[in-house]
Amino acid sequence: MNVWDAIYNKRAIRAFRDAPLPDDVVERILEAGRVAQSSRNEQPWDFIAVRDRERLRQLAASGYYPFVAQSGLTVVITTPPMDVDKPLNFAMYLFDVGQAAANMQLAAQELGVGSGLGRVFKGDVARELLAYPADKEATMLIAFGYPESDDMLTRKGEPNRRPFDDVVHYETW
Ligand SMILES: Cc1cc2nc3c(=O)[nH]c(=O)nc-3n(C[C@H](O)[C@H](O)[C@H](O)COP(=O)(O)O)c2cc1C
Repeated sequence: MNVWDAIYNKRAIRAFRDAPLPDDVVERILEAGRVAQSSRNEQPWDFIAVRDRERLRQLAASGYYPFVAQSGLTVVITTPPMDVDKPLNFAMYLFDVGQAAANMQLAAQELGVGSGLGRVFKGDVARELLAYPADKEATMLIAFGYPESDDMLTRKGEPNRRPFDDVVHYETW
């Protein structure tokens, strides 16, 4: 699969088959996140890779996500917490995390693995379950798995996105 096909076809997948992901697939996905670019190369992320079915079920309650419970891998991404004196740093962390997330999702797409994002709404649930340290916060999670049907990895028709001319402003707005 070339990069364009991965970008264009990737959908948000929220229904997974109950099939485990092989170790090499999991490692490839995580490696794609590890090598992502980041502001000042700070790499402000840690990835907690959850594969245990019971832990996945419990993690689903951090944001009411049935697809997390079904997934073969859910990656919870942590960053340093928001510092009220340096909110721009935090904004940059979130930008960086988004790029690591996109890398992981596109690497997964190439391997026939679907993915769905979710915000960690209940940080207390996630922290209790995953035991990350007090100086880290979990903002987003990404559930990975083989989609309920293979055709979910192929986009049908035009994506439901704002029109090109509405989004793109050449030279000036
Ligand atoms: C930052 C972010 C957070 C998201 N959070 C959720 C979420 O909590 N639950 C969910 O079902 N989908 C979530 N999504 C998926 C989007 O709703 C989805 O990408 C969008 O509707 C477009 O769908 P498509 O990618 O299949 O075309 C999230 C996407 C992003 C980028």
